[in-house]
Amino acid sequence: MAQPDTRSDAAPLGLDPDWWRQAVVYQVYPRSFADADGDGIGDLPGVTSRVSYLRDLGVDAVWLSPFYPSALADGGYDVDDYRDVDPRLGTLADFDAMVVALHGAGIRVIVDIVPNHSSNRHVWFQEALASPKGSHARSRYVFRDGLGENGEVPPSDWQSVFGGSAWEPVGDGQWYLHIFATEQPDLNWALPEVREDFLTTLRFWSDRGVDGFRVDVAHGLAKDLPPVLPSAAELAEIAKREDGSHALWDRDELEEIYADWRRVFAEYTPPRIAVAEAWVPASRRARYATALGQAFNFDLLEADFDADQFRQIISFNLAQSASSGSSSTWVLSNHDVVRHATRYGLPPRGTGEGADTLKGGTAWLLSGGEEPPLDALGGLRRARAATLLLLGLPGSAYLYEGEELGLHEVADIPADQRQDPTFFRTNGGEIGRDGCRVPIPWTISGPSFGFGSAGAHLPQPAWFGASSVEAEAGVPGSTLELYRSALALRRQLQGDETLDWVELGDPDAVLAFRRPGSWLVVTNLGETSIPLPEGELLLSSEALFSAELPPATTAWIRVSG
Ligand code: NOJ
Repeated sequence: MAQPDTRSDAAPLGLDPDWWRQAVVYQVYPRSFADADGDGIGDLPGVTSRVSYLRDLGVDAVWLSPFYPSALADGGYDVDDYRDVDPRLGTLADFDAMVVALHGAGIRVIVDIVPNHSSNRHVWFQEALASPKGSHARSRYVFRDGLGENGEVPPSDWQSVFGGSAWEPVGDGQWYLHIFATEQPDLNWALPEVREDFLTTLRFWSDRGVDGFRVDVAHGLAKDLPPVLPSAAELAEIAKREDGSHALWDRDELEEIYADWRRVFAEYTPPRIAVAEAWVPASRRARYATALGQAFNFDLLEADFDADQFRQIISFNLAQSASSGSSSTWVLSNHDVVRHATRYGLPPRGTGEGADTLKGGTAWLLSGGEEPPLDALGGLRRARAATLLLLGLPGSAYLYEGEELGLHEVADIPADQRQDPTFFRTNGGEIGRDGCRVPIPWTISGPSFGFGSAGAHLPQPAWFGASSVEAEAGVPGSTLELYRSALALRRQLQGDETLDWVELGDPDAVLAFRRPGSWLVVTNLGETSIPLPEGELLLSSEALFSAELPPATTAWIRVSG
């Protein structure tokens, strides 16, 4: 079994209640990070075995996507038991050892909590299926009578996020709601027992040393389902109001739920923190930051590599986080979207109505397997520039495993090896998210490129070896070394959460800002080189051979005055 990393010179974690405000958080998708027992699925001892890698990378915290017992109908976001570890991923003792090792290396631990839905194998749901209509067991979920003479018609025409009906019949005229996959029945958060149980779960992991939580579908828990349900078209109209009156999303009652959570967080020292995954209009996001501590801002992840879009997004989010008392969160990649090296190698999406959506893949990924018009080198170059810009921003940066290697999306996974329910529920119409979840490469060659001693649960392409840790570690100019240098420097340079815009050349092409002290961040998003501002060049996303900053390049410069 992997041994915990017991480095003696690790930074002590301390009790700073604000540790998260400007933290660099690295997302581990456990099934695809490192496989210690060689069964093809990444596991917790695998994470433990890579603690020194994470320490050397320089991250402040790790966020683990779900590792709970699960049939993996939705990559672990279908949880059978919220207070245990999937036997394929380890044991609670392995979890504890991992926390000790991460903490020992000065790295905090954030775990994913999935409160909107359990899995259909959860003991509560099994009890609900075995119990009659109107029973207490059914009240823990959202059961409704079907329409039609014998209840054979779903209660409404709502579609699940992954495609297909959001209702599933249980054989006695009743149907249950599943906003996501069939295997993910929605819980009924109006029931005090459900609320209490999640408080128990929050305490369970907090007692085990977890520092924070990433709250899955944080905008979904509270629901208001009147006797006559609105149609999908009516719901779409209501959504435009953005006023908390939607039957399913972003309702005001969420605030009471999260107030209870905050009381639990406050029982610990330092208080536990949570970051909300809430796909809500930007104008509604601050509510989640106030309620839970932080809220993801996915605006950069949805934007083109474009100076105007970036500037507006940054200004808006800094103002918003200041108003909520939280800090900003910045994300370019995660387990739900096409990796940003690939996105930036594709034609820009544009803005406004009709812009392509990243959820489920970009247009070319949806185009039925045709050769994508991908500019792989250009995409990586823009990704490196965008990342260095992001790491210069005030607030916390969320990185996704493998982005530090400059990994591209794996686009050509055969249909029979795909796992994402999105793919199956749309009959392949949406390619899904497997392409960013392929186990990451640690070595240039060997079984599963060092992921484990055997295969990988999703097929790895031949080009992975050239982007492996082994291929990049210690190699000047590699993406891995760029990330390592950037994180080390950021730690030294980071001041308060302010930023001053600096005008440098054409604002449509150049984005520049100054952080407290003498730290200038400048990105050239245009087509032609610009003069490099005066000062000491600290780091650049590409090697610079003259006093110019070429297109698609970011530089960090120490300036005077
Ligand atoms: C958001 C998660 O990030 C995604 O992976 C999951 O499929 C849905 N929530 C449902 O839990």
